[in-house]
Amino acid sequence: MKKVLFLLAGIVSVLVYNACTKEYLQNVNPVCFEQDVLPIFVSNCTQSGCHNSQSRAEGYVLDTYEHIVSKGINPGDYKSSTIYKAIVGLGAERMPQSPYSALTDEQISTIALWIDEGAEKTTCTVSACDTTNVTYTQSVRPIIVNYCTGCHSGSSPSGNISYSDYAGVKATATNGKLMGSITHAQGYSPMPQNANKLSACNIALIRTWVNQGAPNN
Ligand code: HEC
Repeated sequence: MKKVLFLLAGIVSVLVYNACTKEYLQNVNPVCFEQDVLPIFVSNCTQSGCHNSQSRAEGYVLDTYEHIVSKGINPGDYKSSTIYKAIVGLGAERMPQSPYSALTDEQISTIALWIDEGAEKTTCTVSACDTTNVTYTQSVRPIIVNYCTGCHSGSSPSGNISYSDYAGVKATATNGKLMGSITHAQGYSPMPQNANKLSACNIALIRTWVNQGAPNN
């Protein structure tokens, strides 16, 4: 009985996998490099000692489009791209290395899709910024995951600030450091480190949430 269940689970997961692949191939909106891909690299790969323009670990610098595509990316073929192999690697082969967290499945597929689409420097038309109905889960969390948790999570988070969960984000919302750092206010370290300032819309979304008392909604 157990074996049958196991087999069934296997078949179901293959079906689900195929369904996902299909959807993936049918993707009609090209991935936007500036908004979707660059922040993943900057947040997860450019920590000190890693792939920033000072440390250049293994010769990889992953802070700008030009640097990213210069090594380890085969446009149109994600599977043969060294960078893709590294982010899905196992154990010591995996990037980012421990103690930094692995990329999420969503971040990995975003990068794969972008490579498959030709690894172009796509920018996107910014839709109007909607700051009504701002919530932590829908509005703030995705920005934090995309731009901050590469450094601010894991067993030794940068600045001893962990954004793995709500509590850490709430703490810096309350003590003023979150807004201070993302608006590059005087007296705070500008964040995200090594990267461009967040877009005006992303800052506005976070500000709205902070002004509402930074609720866990
Ligand atoms: C590439 C790594 C990296 C990324 C990405 C990053 N941080 Fe940081 N952050 C650090 C480091 C290192 C420190 C501690 C040293 C310092 O304050 O400069 C820090 C410190 C901070 C502080 C304390 C600042 C202060 O003045 O005390 C806050 C708040 C913060 N980060 C928020 C964020 C937010 C929000 C994001 C995403 C929008 C982010 N960080 C992205 C590396 C990073």
